[in-house]
Amino acid sequence: METMIQPAANQAATTDFLPLHGTDYVELYVGNAKQSAHYYKTAFGFQDYAYAGPETGVKDKVSYVLIQDKMRIMLTTPLSSSHPITEHLKKHGDGVKVLALMVEDAYDAYAQTTSRGGKSYMEPQTLTDEFGEVRMSGIHTYGEVVHLFIERKNYKGTFMPGFKAHKTNYNPTTTGLKYADHCVGNVGWNQMNPWVKFYEDVMGFKNILSFDDNDISTEYSALMSKVMSNGNGYVKFPINEPAEGKKKSQVEEYLDFYEGEGVQHIAIATDNIVETVTTLQSRGVEFLTIPTSYYDELIDRVGHIDEDIEPLKRLGILVDKDDEGYLLQIFTKPVEDRPTMFFEIIQRKGAKSFGKGNFKALFESIEREQALRGNL
Ligand code: FE2
Repeated sequence: METMIQPAANQAATTDFLPLHGTDYVELYVGNAKQSAHYYKTAFGFQDYAYAGPETGVKDKVSYVLIQDKMRIMLTTPLSSSHPITEHLKKHGDGVKVLALMVEDAYDAYAQTTSRGGKSYMEPQTLTDEFGEVRMSGIHTYGEVVHLFIERKNYKGTFMPGFKAHKTNYNPTTTGLKYADHCVGNVGWNQMNPWVKFYEDVMGFKNILSFDDNDISTEYSALMSKVMSNGNGYVKFPINEPAEGKKKSQVEEYLDFYEGEGVQHIAIATDNIVETVTTLQSRGVEFLTIPTSYYDELIDRVGHIDEDIEPLKRLGILVDKDDEGYLLQIFTKPVEDRPTMFFEIIQRKGAKSFGKGNFKALFESIEREQALRGNL
């Protein structure tokens, strides 16, 4: 059963020991950062922003940072077979390594989380250049994913020391993507609750929503999910684990092909999903498709919405509502050849939930893709 848990009033004002200003950036380890950057610019409309590599004194890897409104992604490739990132790529293929969070004090964030059981990934350090300083630290989370705590209030340069501003002659337009709405992790059998407890104990998050396998099972593919949120709600991490179904869970397919736990999808917000998705599709982003019958009972299910149904139907955009409003969402196909990470595009019109009313249609769509891959 879906359980909505009301967050305690003014939690942020009481004892938030890890105040977060939001997502700072998401770093993906990829096989060829130069080509990935081209893809995220061409297909998703990200813009050139910063670069680190041999030309900036980093000899063993290359990172491109791209930006669109408040959303920053970093694409990193190692330059030799002996680099530790090469092992990550060999095992997982392209995928998310870092979910970096914007903090007020990176040294305190480290002390608060490691004293509560967080496993150190990066001891606090201060990076400086002529534009000021960035302080950072980090801890491990599920799989090989890490959280970096980034404190940039005393930095005026581009991104952070070690990077230079980067601009090429190729600058496709933006697509209306604005910021990370939520980032979802897939964890192994019986691992959801331990990771829920990690976010509660180590990072002070609250479980704001739970779905069990009665909510999220179709004929075949089942999962369970709990949504973790920080005090001000700027950072939301749903955690999925597989559940028993007639055949293989979509989460299990991910775990098999990623060869471990990891980030399943990143949801990026837009203010105009019809325009954004029209542009993304024209630029080659592939989305899951939904039978047009989904739209026959849409108005009966969600009531009045501002958007015309016709473009939603043409694009395959899903709609769901909760007590506070409605949301529109759509999911890409995996953006790697392994059926692992994908993106969600979401527009919230009051709703704070995650589209439970769409799970059935969505999972049937995922299952059709799983069946095509022979993995159902
Ligand atoms: Fe999502």
